[in-house]
Amino acid sequence: MAGDSGSDAADSIDLADAYAVKTPEDSRRLYRQWAKTYNETFIEANSYIYPRAVAELFAEHVPQSISLKIVDVGCGTGAVGSILSSLRPECAIDGYDISPEMLTQASLLKRPDHSAVYRNLVEVDLTEQLPVQKFDAMTSSGTFTHGHLGPKTFLALIDLVVQDGWFVIGVNAEHFESRGFANAIDGAVLADRITVPLIELVDVYAPGSPHHGDQAKVCIFRRKI
Ligand SMILES: C[S@@+](CC[C@H](N)C(=O)[O-])C[C@H]1O[C@@H](n2cnc3c(N)ncnc32)[C@H](O)[C@@H]1O
Repeated sequence: MAGDSGSDAADSIDLADAYAVKTPEDSRRLYRQWAKTYNETFIEANSYIYPRAVAELFAEHVPQSISLKIVDVGCGTGAVGSILSSLRPECAIDGYDISPEMLTQASLLKRPDHSAVYRNLVEVDLTEQLPVQKFDAMTSSGTFTHGHLGPKTFLALIDLVVQDGWFVIGVNAEHFESRGFANAIDGAVLADRITVPLIELVDVYAPGSPHHGDQAKVCIFRRKI
């Protein structure tokens, strides 16, 4: 279980533990234990394809003409960054996460030229404090969901991106309306803060995964004011 310690406990962590997260402190505790085995026991074992879908939608929709500074919110072990850096090698990617252990795993990722996938990795509780740095674009997978980051943080994070900058943000489809993400986005559109999002429904897990069927809504929009 997530509250135990030691490698046996880490091996038994699963989606149920992630769904049991309610507070930032729960996240710190869960991902402290899960970081070293997350790629193997979660991404690979469950055929978790959501980060690839988000990275591909980013590459499809965000114009390539300039070298963007991108922030990956809740970057974890770096699943989005590793794919996005191969699709958009000219972009600088920073990763923000509450878990120093997950960030350590992300720091191990390298590009083909042996430089780091992530330019900067920052430990931050995004429900508490917003970094001052501004980005041209924001991306995220697996973090806007029950018990992790909610709609209030979603709205606050708009300020991290420059005017006309881009967002390609995945939100768990099951929680999109029930947890208030849809209302938050509608409010931001009405207030003229963001453009009307294009929403792409994507599979979180590939066919054959025990969790195939879970979906996410990837929201693609730009900051207006
Ligand atoms: C399910 S993982 C997703 C990681 C990665 N994006 C992926 O798709 O594999 C959720 C991540 O959100 C981070 N997280 C949870 N609460 C957070 C908070 N309050 N501030 C910053 N990051 C948070 C966790 O530490 C964890 O790395």
